[in-house]
Amino acid sequence: MKCVDDFRLRFGQREYVPIMVGGMGVDISTAELALEAARLGGVGHISDAMVPTVSDRRFNTRFVKDKLQLYKYNVANTDKSAIKFDLDQLAEATRMHVGRTMEAKRGEGMVFINCMEKLTMNGPKDTLRVRLGAALDAGIDGITLSAGLHLGSFALIDNHPRFRDAKLGIIVSSLRALQLFLRKNAKLNRLPDYVIVEGPLAGGHLGFGFNDWMEYDLQTIVSEIHAWIKAEKLDIPLIAAGGIFTGSDAVSFLENGSAAVQVATRFTVADECGLPDKVKQEYFRAHEEDVEVNGISPTGYPMRMLKSSPAIGEGIRPNCEAYGYLLDGNGNCAYIDAYNREVLAHPGAKKVSVMDKTCLCTHMRNFDCWTCGHYVYRLKDTTRRLSDGSYQVLSAEHIFRDYQFSKEHQIALPAA
Ligand SMILES: Cc1cc2nc3c(=O)[nH]c(=O)nc-3n(C[C@H](O)[C@H](O)[C@H](O)COP(=O)(O)O)c2cc1C
Repeated sequence: MKCVDDFRLRFGQREYVPIMVGGMGVDISTAELALEAARLGGVGHISDAMVPTVSDRRFNTRFVKDKLQLYKYNVANTDKSAIKFDLDQLAEATRMHVGRTMEAKRGEGMVFINCMEKLTMNGPKDTLRVRLGAALDAGIDGITLSAGLHLGSFALIDNHPRFRDAKLGIIVSSLRALQLFLRKNAKLNRLPDYVIVEGPLAGGHLGFGFNDWMEYDLQTIVSEIHAWIKAEKLDIPLIAAGGIFTGSDAVSFLENGSAAVQVATRFTVADECGLPDKVKQEYFRAHEEDVEVNGISPTGYPMRMLKSSPAIGEGIRPNCEAYGYLLDGNGNCAYIDAYNREVLAHPGAKKVSVMDKTCLCTHMRNFDCWTCGHYVYRLKDTTRRLSDGSYQVLSAEHIFRDYQFSKEHQIALPAA
């Protein structure tokens, strides 16, 4: 019986342990977590979601305070179209987040950044161009394009000196999405270096319909894309993601068309993960019936989360003057509409409840939106229960090596 360590992910002449730790915004996949994956010979991701606020936390900068100061006059206004990001500051925050991470990198692996197109930031093209360019400037090993079709994203950076040398990949959930991406980018003569195929059991946003996500199966999608890539004589490694919980799960993908796996949920309970300790305990305690796929993300994508997430139903005033990452090109966000509707329906109320949408910026930033993969309820089986009833948090190295070496669906418990 094989283990993950019997396989290698190849990029050109280089070989890596075929384990990627997926991007988890907002700073759930911290630099520390990504650096561990790289040190151990795999690939880790930091995230470029809300980097100004992440930078404030990491480096004591003042990006959010300064933005709020500038737009304070607009806080009570329902029209958010005036709120723009300062592109120089956005670039500076990104360079700092990426640059400091890359300086700290040790070992043979790589650190990538996860970049979500759905963070439209009231200036979709300009802000995305700056985020991608600044990450490349600061020496990121690779960029994973996610949460969107990214039909124009390569063209935003095709003049960057590192456009052909950095690893660039995309997350898709269907062959059709990949075909669209390749067709739109054909004239740039630059294929993606890898394609992450994310199935319906993943954490974060899902690339499926709200009503049909449960009809899809990751291995079926991987096999379909693999067959098409072979038929087209393309050489692009596929990386399966979503619900891969044990090393043996990973091996079955590696034996059937995947060059590596991307995993995330098991690392949400790592020391190095950015979730506060009390939230890690919520993840450990979760049972299957505590998880739902709902439609409250203003992005329009279904999202899986714990039903007990404080973000659900919380009717806070939209915080776009400080954040504003989900404002579309015209300053709109589905949460603002839902919030305004509730305020109008409840005149004089001190607080409203908004059930159908959530202020994702604020709640992700505050770790109050507890998104997770389907198998979050198995995390308790990956550790020990302590005498006070809590669960022992694991090191990222322990989890990584368990994926790498375990056989027969065994999960190694940490040393007591
Ligand atoms: C807490 C959490 C946050 C996530 N955030 C993002 C994100 O910001 N962008 C993204 O592309 N994927 C995100 N994901 C998806 C992961 O990167 C990964 O592809 C997926 O969760 C793998 O499935 P698994 O969690 O079952 O291992 C997130 C997943 C989790 C668990």
